Amino acid sequence: MPALATPPLALYVHFPWCVRKCPYCDFNSYALSGELVQQPYLDRLERDLAAQARQVSGREVRSVFLGGGTPSLFSPEAIGRVLQAARRSLRLADDAEVTLEANPGTIERGTFAEYRAAGVTRVSLGAQSFDAQTLAVLGRIHSPEETRRAAEELHAAGLANFNLDLMYALPRQDVAAAVRDVEAAIALSPAHISHYQLTLEPGTVFAAHPPPLPDEDAAAGMLVECSARLAAAGFAQYEVSAYARPGAQCRHNLNYWSFGDYLGVGAGAHGKLTFAQAGQIVRTTQPREPRRYLAAADAAPAPRAVLADELPFEFMLNVLRLTAGFEAAWFSSRTGLDWAVIAERVRAALARGLLLHTATGYRPSDRGLRFLNELLLGFLPETSKKTGPSVLSMATPEVRTGS
Ligand SMILES: C[S@@+](CC[C@H](N)C(=O)[O-])C[C@H]1O[C@@H](n2cnc3c(N)ncnc32)[C@H](O)[C@@H]1O
Ligand code: SF4
Repeated sequence: MPALATPPLALYVHFPWCVRKCPYCDFNSYALSGELVQQPYLDRLERDLAAQARQVSGREVRSVFLGGGTPSLFSPEAIGRVLQAARRSLRLADDAEVTLEANPGTIERGTFAEYRAAGVTRVSLGAQSFDAQTLAVLGRIHSPEETRRAAEELHAAGLANFNLDLMYALPRQDVAAAVRDVEAAIALSPAHISHYQLTLEPGTVFAAHPPPLPDEDAAAGMLVECSARLAAAGFAQYEVSAYARPGAQCRHNLNYWSFGDYLGVGAGAHGKLTFAQAGQIVRTTQPREPRRYLAAADAAPAPRAVLADELPFEFMLNVLRLTAGFEAAWFSSRTGLDWAVIAERVRAALARGLLLHTATGYRPSDRGLRFLNELLLGFLPETSKKTGPSVLSMATPEVRTGS
């Protein structure tokens, strides 16, 4: 058996509340009823951090992602307290990337400067669209003007390393409108743009009452045009939905997509940890509902071992999202499995033109990236091929993430 190596480690902290639940969103988020009571959640996060830190003692944490929900509903002092607790419990790298997800509708003048003073180094702003009517249909709590003001505030606060989340294939959107959104985003000089195709997620309001959406051809046309605009403006695509200026790729998400390790702290947070000596990779999950999370015991969540049969698919599900693909050596060092386990499946994907050789490994071809599900099907575990779940229903937690 090849040796399993200890990969880099990151920390994810979940903040589950939002002002309002957006009708398309199936993330673990809950509309606030009344005032946000920060203290009990902060206390619980602190205890969660301390309990989970024991599993990774001595390991350096290279990035922190404060995600949601809407973490920017928490005050800069509260975010500072979480980061101090992380520093007390864990060995945080001096130059750790610390990203805060923010909703433009929750930002007041001066807030970003305070978040920066509290230790935030990067912000991910949920812009979604710059069309006022579309924002209303999406149930957003902010106007395009508020997004523009928030971006100006970020520059003024010295947080130029920020991301804008955009979605496309939105209700009644055409190619020209999708391109206008991308151009409006570029005009705000972010360092990073995430560009997601709107999907109808089961259990959401949009899934129950679908709005009129562009068809697949129109959506494909939007992707082609928008990617071209982004490339022309200096944003290189490095992942299915992520574009960055040189040097501004999201280190935290790159770690997920390289099948790195992460601690998951907070309601519904997922973690993945490698125990190299024991030859084991485990996943952890905290209770989803804030009430249950707050009431749960402080012990670290029970780990679930990832079975050898599941590892090739889980590995590929992440690394094949990257336009640069993966180094062949990662497969064995990050899964502990022999290359022979996937050699035949890799050959088949190469033969179908979905995968290409690189100097040190493999990357998805343009077609492979566009039809990623088809490429990934080849790596499904034998057991699930028999029972036949869809590729998407098997998605690991890190695949669906804001950046
Ligand atoms: C975890 S959410 C949190 C962002 C933040 N709460 C906000 O909305 O301002 C991260 C991003 O995922 C994207 N997203 C959420 N639901 C989606 C869906 N159904 N289809 C495509 N993208 C989605 C949105 O762009 C969103 O900003
Ligand atoms: S998209 Fe963002 S703001 Fe809207 S409900 Fe989901 S997490 Fe909350």
